[in-house]
Amino acid sequence: MLQLFKNPRGALSLLCSALFLLILQTTPLRADEGMWLPMLIGQKIDRMHELGFKLTAEDIYSVNKASLKDAIVHFGGGCTGEVISAEGLLLTNHHCGYGQIQAHSSVENDYLKDGFWARTRTEELPNQGLTVTFMRRMEDVTDLVLQGVTDAMEEKERQQIIDKNIKDLTEKALNGLDKRYNTVRIAPTYFGNQYFLYLNEIFRDVRLVGAPPSSIGKFGGDTDNWIWPRHTGDFALFRIYADKDNNPAEYSPNNVPYRPRYHFTISSKGVKEGDFTMVYGYPGRTQQYVLSPAVEYIALRSNPQKIHLRGLRLDVMNREQGKDQAVRIQYASKNARVSNAWKRWQGEARGILNAGTIAKKKAFEERFQQWAETTGRDDYITLISKMKELYNRLEPLQYASEMYTEALMATELLQFADNLERQLARRGPEEALSLARSFFKDYYQPIDEEIFEILFAEFYAALQDTPDLLPTPDLLPAAAPAARTTQAPAAHTAQAPAAHTAEAPAARTAQAAHCPENIRTLAQHLFSTSAFTREQQTLDILAKDSEQALELIRNDIAFKLVRPFVEKNRTEIQPLIAAINQELSLLYRTWMQAIMEFDKDRVFYPDANSTLRVAFGTVAGYSPVDAVVYKPVSTIEGIMQKDDPNNFDYNIPQTLRNIHAERNYGRWETDGTVPVCFIATNHTSGGNSGSPVLNANGHLLGLNFDRVWEGTMSDIEFDSSVCRNISVDIRYVLFLIDKIGNADYLLRELDISQD
Ligand code: ARG
Ligand code: ASP
Repeated sequence: MLQLFKNPRGALSLLCSALFLLILQTTPLRADEGMWLPMLIGQKIDRMHELGFKLTAEDIYSVNKASLKDAIVHFGGGCTGEVISAEGLLLTNHHCGYGQIQAHSSVENDYLKDGFWARTRTEELPNQGLTVTFMRRMEDVTDLVLQGVTDAMEEKERQQIIDKNIKDLTEKALNGLDKRYNTVRIAPTYFGNQYFLYLNEIFRDVRLVGAPPSSIGKFGGDTDNWIWPRHTGDFALFRIYADKDNNPAEYSPNNVPYRPRYHFTISSKGVKEGDFTMVYGYPGRTQQYVLSPAVEYIALRSNPQKIHLRGLRLDVMNREQGKDQAVRIQYASKNARVSNAWKRWQGEARGILNAGTIAKKKAFEERFQQWAETTGRDDYITLISKMKELYNRLEPLQYASEMYTEALMATELLQFADNLERQLARRGPEEALSLARSFFKDYYQPIDEEIFEILFAEFYAALQDTPDLLPTPDLLPAAAPAARTTQAPAAHTAQAPAAHTAEAPAARTAQAAHCPENIRTLAQHLFSTSAFTREQQTLDILAKDSEQALELIRNDIAFKLVRPFVEKNRTEIQPLIAAINQELSLLYRTWMQAIMEFDKDRVFYPDANSTLRVAFGTVAGYSPVDAVVYKPVSTIEGIMQKDDPNNFDYNIPQTLRNIHAERNYGRWETDGTVPVCFIATNHTSGGNSGSPVLNANGHLLGLNFDRVWEGTMSDIEFDSSVCRNISVDIRYVLFLIDKIGNADYLLRELDISQD
């Protein structure tokens, strides 16, 4: 983030920023914000060399030779992974493979709890639906995408031309390739000022090879999640399989381990403060250039409300999971998902306030406005006011949409009823059946019923000031005895945030649907009447011919209840949101051009969009609050300090206690201990989990898996004083494979180097 952005206005501040620039240029800063496009990394390579990097831009990304990029995969679409052996061995986070590990687990064979180690290749476990994707090449296709577009053109016509160009380019790039295993994505960058084409290759036979017990892989659980100091062994091993010609194929027992174009050498040298690090992976979505109202909405309204709602859900899950082992497994993945964003939103909102992001953005917008007036360009002068106007219109809709997702659809039964109908109607009986099977595998009615009671009321409470965003009254199935309506939800309103309990506008009376007074009665009726709380009944329905099954689903109370909401959201709220966002994104296209012109010295990087990026920085501690300083490396000593047999999150396996007692660290010992995690200044985001963290030689130092709490606002503003990514040290991973997994046969596959 550059000086102009950070400094107040005025001559003095200009002088300050000049000085600041000078300082910037003479002392290498330790933090380098940004997520860079691999193909254009040449722009940053000098800076990377200054920080110690020894390789070239060609080593990072090349189409002519094997390069670092060829060892990296998009894992399952939401995480990153990397190939670490010539036989397709793949490393990612435990939390990224969590769903797969859970899917293979049962109370008898609890791989979540006990870990899993395939002793031979034949024991490696296939995972239906899991894919890994390699990016084979990228290309700047801006000119080709914009071919035929003129400034004078209406937006609609412009978009039609662009869509057509994208379609043609995609087809051309795929020409001669097997479309089952090759895809093309053309992604707008800088809000459509630039376009990049990505040609990807997808592998569909990916098997689970190893995972530590959750007491290691998820050590610290949700208590330590997003927190430094951290001691989580967050890794899992998979293997990519290919057909006999080394090409991607559907799962087959005849497939063989994939031989990658490149795999990482592992460094056993370790890290110390100040060392160069680079993270190469797939950050999902950032919003570095948004206007102040968007940030205000996130920090002051959306996050607080969503935190409140998820907190209520977590209370129920945690209590019930604590009571029963089977429920603990069933809800492990769901709980982690709900909890993860719940906690991140808290850190993010607080970080935005601490960093003063809203005020800084407002000040920047004022300075921009003054400058815009001097350009005489009408599109620049009116830009901010137009965007603000759109944000005003967007906010209530966006809020409602979030309530539909976070409160209404928090009830699994409602979501399932809706999904099942859609699946059967659009995809067919087989898909519907498989949806039902996976739903019931992890469904526990008491949790869901209680969540319904609480969250359904919360949903109404949250939207009571905007009744036109609720469906009209006949929402409750006639059969429901509780279909009496009243103005305010009776249950759980005490917990609704004050902002939403304000007097309702008069307009709401006749039109609005109201939350039923006796939610308990409705819940009982709903959950005892619906077929979708019982597996056999649901399967019986699905066994009928499709027409009949659809009819039965559509007459089920759960479907009837949820349907009007889904329709309201789908046919009214979402289209309005989409239309406003469309207008906004056009204005953001201009905004991006304008701020690049206005803020000439600043180096811009494109927002994350789930495409491959390079971030770099150095290993560095930080000060989370006044008078406290954190060191950058944690060790096994910290695990022992946290160890607590009575606390689920910190109850480590006895073997690890024994190893520590005997200091039986073998070749993984460093300075009398074993390093566990470290932090650095790389700019990462959600999706970067599992990304390789590389040293100056491009060797693997660790696996990225998290960020520190105080810095989770980095998706909006990267504050180099507190934004840190958290990685598990590769030496700890190797130590665990060796000493906990007793899987030294896997270590033999690896290339381990001293540097
Ligand atoms: N916070 C990390 C990320 O966003 C790890 C999440 C998984 N761990 C957990 N305890 N829920 O994905
Ligand atoms: N834990 C995140 C992930 O899964 C990484 C992050 O948000 O920093 O991608």
